[in-house]
Amino acid sequence: YRRLRVALLGAGAVGSQVASLLLRHADELADRAGARLELAGIAVRDVGAKRDVDLPRELFTTDAESLIVGSDIVIELMGGIEPARAYLLHAINSGADIVTANKALLATHGPEIFDAADQVGAEVYYEAAAAGAIPIIRPLRDSLAGDRVQRIMGIVNGTTNYILDRMDTEGAEFADVLADAQRLGYAEADPTADVEGYDAAQKAAILASLAFHTTVPLDAVHREGITSIDKSMMDAARHAGYVIKLLAVCERLVEASGESISVRVYPALVDRKHPLASVHGANNAVFVQAEAAGNLMFYGAGAGGVQTASAVLGDVVSAARRHIAGGVGVGESTLANLPIVPIGRV
Ligand code: NDP
Ligand code: HSE
Repeated sequence: YRRLRVALLGAGAVGSQVASLLLRHADELADRAGARLELAGIAVRDVGAKRDVDLPRELFTTDAESLIVGSDIVIELMGGIEPARAYLLHAINSGADIVTANKALLATHGPEIFDAADQVGAEVYYEAAAAGAIPIIRPLRDSLAGDRVQRIMGIVNGTTNYILDRMDTEGAEFADVLADAQRLGYAEADPTADVEGYDAAQKAAILASLAFHTTVPLDAVHREGITSIDKSMMDAARHAGYVIKLLAVCERLVEASGESISVRVYPALVDRKHPLASVHGANNAVFVQAEAAGNLMFYGAGAGGVQTASAVLGDVVSAARRHIAGGVGVGESTLANLPIVPIGRV
């Protein structure tokens, strides 16, 4: 196999799991990608910091700039705007394809990053930037490209769903469950982004931009968080047959004067019989309503290091296939030579 140099920026909740899976499944990933994905290094702030998983010490560096140079694929899992933005532009201009889970960056500087990539023929992959492990970016961008999406509605932040769910089911206190969400690696580095709805608003802007083939700026998204929700509100909702969920709603509005788009994030009363009421823990669920396809539903882990690493690695394999195919389209996956077991005998 041809060797591709992969640079990883960040080894926190998600990055450490990505590195671990890249190393552990190197042979299998090479078969699928058609190239060996060689982890050249991992840029962090503190090379001596304790990590969620054991990783070879010699891979760590604080020199992200040098690590990027000569890399075929750069994975950004640092979060935040700067220096993530500068590193990704540097990577694109150095000839790399990029993979990022950074919705804060894409929702605010997406056009700049995509334009820079377009100019040099690079590709930007960001499946993990919305709804964690759930495949939702590709379905909206590719699978539904021939349809007209009318509405997206769902739970797109794992931390707030985890908090609201435990407040509802256990009568837990907001501060205690937020601390648990942080410990479990669900929350953003600054959890204000989760509890005040900024993270969900960023994801809603990204999803609406894809669904409606436009650029929805973050400041056009109506945003409310969950910090004003207390136990008495949860109890009142429960007694009335509802549960409180932080929803993101993206709609194409058709009026006599023309079409417009509405994107909003707010805590809503959801009927306990509605499927969204059964989304527990840090899971997410996204309903997509399209003109021809009708109603589609996507469900799964919306946050968590290893779960999100799945989406990131899917992007890395796509980037590798594109790279070895010479930058045009994706390469064919190599079929694994597995024995076929007749149904009923597994
Ligand atoms: P963490 O805060 O756990 O990890 C961030 C990592 O980036 C750390 O290893 C840190 O280094 C490194 N880092 C931060 N700033 C710099 C810098 N200036 N220079 C070098 N390294 C730096 O973040 P997560 O892993 O939780 O999230 C990463 C990205 O993935 C974010 O964009 C987040 O929004 C997104 N995401 C997260 C999900 C989750 O469930 N956690 C789910 C989906 C997306 P050090 O360790 O030395 O401090
Ligand atoms: N902090 C985010 C959440 C991570 O809780 O949903 C996944 O994007």
